[in-house]
Amino acid sequence: MKILRSPKAMTAWSLGLRREGVTIGFVPTMGALHDGHRALIRAARLKCDALVVSIFVNPTQFGPAEDLSKYPRPIAKDRTLCRQEGVDICFEPTAAGMYPEGFQTTVTVPEISRLWEGAVRPHHFAGVATVVTKLFGMVRPDLALFGQKDFQQAALVRRMIDDLNLGVTLIVHPTVREQDGLAMSSRNVYLSPEERAAAPVLFKSLQAGVAAIRGGIQDGARIQSIMKETLRRHADAAIDYLAVCDPQTLEPLQTVTSQAVLLGAIRIGSVRLIDNMLASRSKTSTTRRSRSK
Ligand code: PAF
Repeated sequence: MKILRSPKAMTAWSLGLRREGVTIGFVPTMGALHDGHRALIRAARLKCDALVVSIFVNPTQFGPAEDLSKYPRPIAKDRTLCRQEGVDICFEPTAAGMYPEGFQTTVTVPEISRLWEGAVRPHHFAGVATVVTKLFGMVRPDLALFGQKDFQQAALVRRMIDDLNLGVTLIVHPTVREQDGLAMSSRNVYLSPEERAAAPVLFKSLQAGVAAIRGGIQDGARIQSIMKETLRRHADAAIDYLAVCDPQTLEPLQTVTSQAVLLGAIRIGSVRLIDNMLASRSKTSTTRRSRSK
């Protein structure tokens, strides 16, 4: 595995391979790699000839009061994981290489960024959209893999790829969970043992929402209050949002007629957790019909 830090060297490597018809897969990360990233890297490995993983803790997607300085950076461990998984290039640009003197262009995806994470973390998605566009320009991938755990981020990248004709195939990989349902995240290391024990409450709450939809409840507000009740019953967590949304637009749904995505963000102590689940009414009714035969 090669480690590249220079954007120019990265692009030269990719263009050389592309000229030979080699397909390039890309997994962008901020490091602190865990089994969720491992699953993304493995899925990418199966779909491309050459594989690039980037590790860059992007300062522009953190707010002033957020955890940029304490964000975990176990680079040696991350490189080992990449080597084990057959990654060809570990791309580790520096902040100065990414945002050189005079840098001033920002990519924004206003509608998708307006609600949920975008409302709680202003500027976050402009930071993500800009760095992902830059990384795509540097890596020139054929396909890129993102985790479903960051559902709104994946929706934003999909919109951006279409709107800007970026020519990258987006693959969204299902969320990888701990045994008790907690979605894997680099930030889970911040949880104290007590907080870690309480953390699966978000998963439970989303599951209750999915069960409500499967049970035939269509009213968005009712589903939302079932999720809230479940959360309150199981732990002392502050709710940033628990929402029933359209999976494409992420707008809240008053009535679930077919598919919905349940989005959640809570705070346990000082740790913020996000998660989501897709729920489909039509599949459920089909299952019920076939069961009753
Ligand atoms: O999901 C992440 O780790 C980051 O938001 C990303 C996509 C690598 C951009 O910095």
